[in-house]
Amino acid sequence: MSQFRVLVLHGPSLNLLGTRQPEIYGHETLDDVNHALHEKAGLVGWDLECFQSNHEGALIDAIHAARLDGTRGIIINPAAFTHTSVAILDALNAFEGTVIEVHISNVHKRESFRHHSYVSLRADGVIAGLGTQGYHAALDALIEAARVTG
Ligand code: DQA
Repeated sequence: MSQFRVLVLHGPSLNLLGTRQPEIYGHETLDDVNHALHEKAGLVGWDLECFQSNHEGALIDAIHAARLDGTRGIIINPAAFTHTSVAILDALNAFEGTVIEVHISNVHKRESFRHHSYVSLRADGVIAGLGTQGYHAALDALIEAARVTG
């Protein structure tokens, strides 16, 4: 499989994963998640970069950079920006690769303000409610798609 570059973006408060509302988001830390994703990407020789920010503009800058550095897939958990950010949607609309939106919790089972996602207007796939396994499902989907299309 040819070299493939993936960017994993984590939005606000996901730096607190493992200690933040563990009854909703689980006990795994963000480092645990990122480490496991790196391992999986490494098995197929892919380059995977993870970035977390509590700042909308920093996430947008990372998406803009991904347009220019050969990134072919973005896995994004925009966290609360999911429900508010036209700016992140616009940035993703300017990115030509595959976008997969991930939510650790099932947002549709929660408060109604979490039911709408601006990012879903762009996402090629959406995963919610699988816990941190959702990130793996997203990476597996990118790997499988690349295997089929080359
Ligand atoms: C989240 C769901 C969002 O509604 C929330 O604001 C988050 C995390 C999730 O992963 O389940 O911060 O994106």
